[in-house]
Amino acid sequence: MTLKPTFQDMNVYTDILPCRTAVRGIQRNGGTVGLVPTMGAIHEGHVSLIRAAKARCSHVAVTIFVNPTQFAPTDDFTAYPRPLEADLDSCKRAGVDLVFTPTVETMYPGARLESRTSTNVHVSGLTDVLCGPRRPGHFDGVATIVAKLFGILPADAVFFGEKDYQQLAVIRQMVRDLNIPIEIVGCPTVREPDGLAMSSRNAYLTSAQRTQATCLSRALFDAAERIRGGERNIAAIVDGIREGIVSAGPAQIEYVDVVDSNTLDLLSIVDRPARICLAVRIGSCRLIDNVGVDAPPTPR
Ligand code: PAJ
Repeated sequence: MTLKPTFQDMNVYTDILPCRTAVRGIQRNGGTVGLVPTMGAIHEGHVSLIRAAKARCSHVAVTIFVNPTQFAPTDDFTAYPRPLEADLDSCKRAGVDLVFTPTVETMYPGARLESRTSTNVHVSGLTDVLCGPRRPGHFDGVATIVAKLFGILPADAVFFGEKDYQQLAVIRQMVRDLNIPIEIVGCPTVREPDGLAMSSRNAYLTSAQRTQATCLSRALFDAAERIRGGERNIAAIVDGIREGIVSAGPAQIEYVDVVDSNTLDLLSIVDRPARICLAVRIGSCRLIDNVGVDAPPTPR
């Protein structure tokens, strides 16, 4: 598909240099740029990040790029939805000023994807838990593409969803460690009315699986409520969540863990701000979700 350089007055870039020049031009004229990196299939979760960016910055840039290096060979890279025209329309309606949607060749020129780029960003520690060991190489792919995007769109602030809580923590750490001059803003998870966290991958669910999937947020909210009610024993909390999921139908639980909100260290007792995180496969669809328990629990 040939992209028009503008989409109803919104600038759409497929090449690196004009995109960087546009961002710098806005900043030279006294504006600020808020960046929202996405893989497209734009939904209300993405739009909430665009809104947060608009509230803080004079201009908003969105990137749409399905990044091959964060997918394992068995993952859904080829099947991942790519409704570009509808995405541009959503961006336009949300008031986005510029979109960067490069090809794989532009981002990884001449690279054999299996060997990735010569330079890769690996954030250690935070990637040793939760999704890290279950998706080897995934966070290297994410950190590297995000660092590349920061080089192409030198924005003032960048907006990430808490839906991908570990990703947000990894990017925060990368920016701290590499002294990248960009502010990271975390935004709350947007949910469907029945509680399911919005995700581009929800489209893979059959209608029965879609109904079943509400067990994830229900189990997480129940657990958070129990903690607020004084429960501190994480084994009991995790058991409750697992039961809630298993009783809803066939599902493969990858993990249910409670971690320190800042360090992502695994906890066995809730004695500080914590995040309850899970990854569950329903059918062929891998779903992740998490909730925070920020109030220190009252002792029983
Ligand atoms: P993607 O899954 O498209 O998500 C883009 C951004 O939207 C991420 O910051 C994600 O956390 C946020 N997001 C997704 N669902 C959300 C929801 N229900 N509520 C709030 N925010 C939500 O995450 C990626 O793409 C990629 O890994 C990327 C960072 C673009 C690097 O390729």
